[in-house]
Amino acid sequence: MRILFLGDLVGRTGRDAAAAALPRLRADLGIDLAVVNGENASHGFGLAPEMATTLFAAGADVITLGNHAWDRKELVGYIGTEPRVIRPLNFPPGTPGAGMFVAVLADGRRALVLNVMGRLFMDPLDCPFRTSAEALSKYRLGGTVAAIVVDFHAEATSEKMAFAHSFDGDVSLVVGTHTHAPSADHQILPGGTAFMSDAGMCGDYDSVIGMAKEGAAARFWKKLPGERLHPADGEATVCGVFVETDDATGLARRIEPVRLGGRLSQTMPRVAVPATA
Ligand SMILES: [Fe+2]
Ligand SMILES: [Fe+2]
Repeated sequence: MRILFLGDLVGRTGRDAAAAALPRLRADLGIDLAVVNGENASHGFGLAPEMATTLFAAGADVITLGNHAWDRKELVGYIGTEPRVIRPLNFPPGTPGAGMFVAVLADGRRALVLNVMGRLFMDPLDCPFRTSAEALSKYRLGGTVAAIVVDFHAEATSEKMAFAHSFDGDVSLVVGTHTHAPSADHQILPGGTAFMSDAGMCGDYDSVIGMAKEGAAARFWKKLPGERLHPADGEATVCGVFVETDDATGLARRIEPVRLGGRLSQTMPRVAVPATA
């Protein structure tokens, strides 16, 4: 299975770039499953339902969230009607929506996508490790589902790495989100799980993690609330990761970064299309 994961879409420039790139990336890379993180799509804060609709129409199969899940309050009601939008699994019991979704591909293959949030330098939540272990115990990689993708939304690289090693061999991909800067540590772990500690954002990198740099820097200089942060609106770099898995085992055969457009150095996996199943 070929999987594309795009990191946090920040503001209009990020979501427009991702929506424009998705059809091309799906075709050029022969993508079977596309997952995007939408927690910052709405002006940097949250995801509006109509933006989710646009992203699904562009080719996203599943949209994950994070600490900004409820910044657009309409999503609280919407998420119960749209199972393809998932919020962190380890939010308190009774939280609307779900933390995972099983996508059924056009050819019938099933892929489990899970969104979970770290706790280091983040809001206190239920244990992401134990919560994930319990959720994953209901599925068998290479059996009930052909692939398992985990978006681990966290600040600390240590927590992301610890999580990935803990589930090495149990899932196809652990990809970090939330820092908005792509890491260069993409690899296949010894047990066969693909890992990248952060996918990076889809947004304008002439910014402070996607927000206009002047206002963001002023907060550090003055320690005053200042103006409300707003997204930088230059050309976005679409950042993410490409993974190819073996359907028999669900384990990764290949992981490569994707960086398209904008200011960052460009990289695109070389793929001889097609290769479904
Ligand atoms: Fe984010
Ligand atoms: Fe976040």
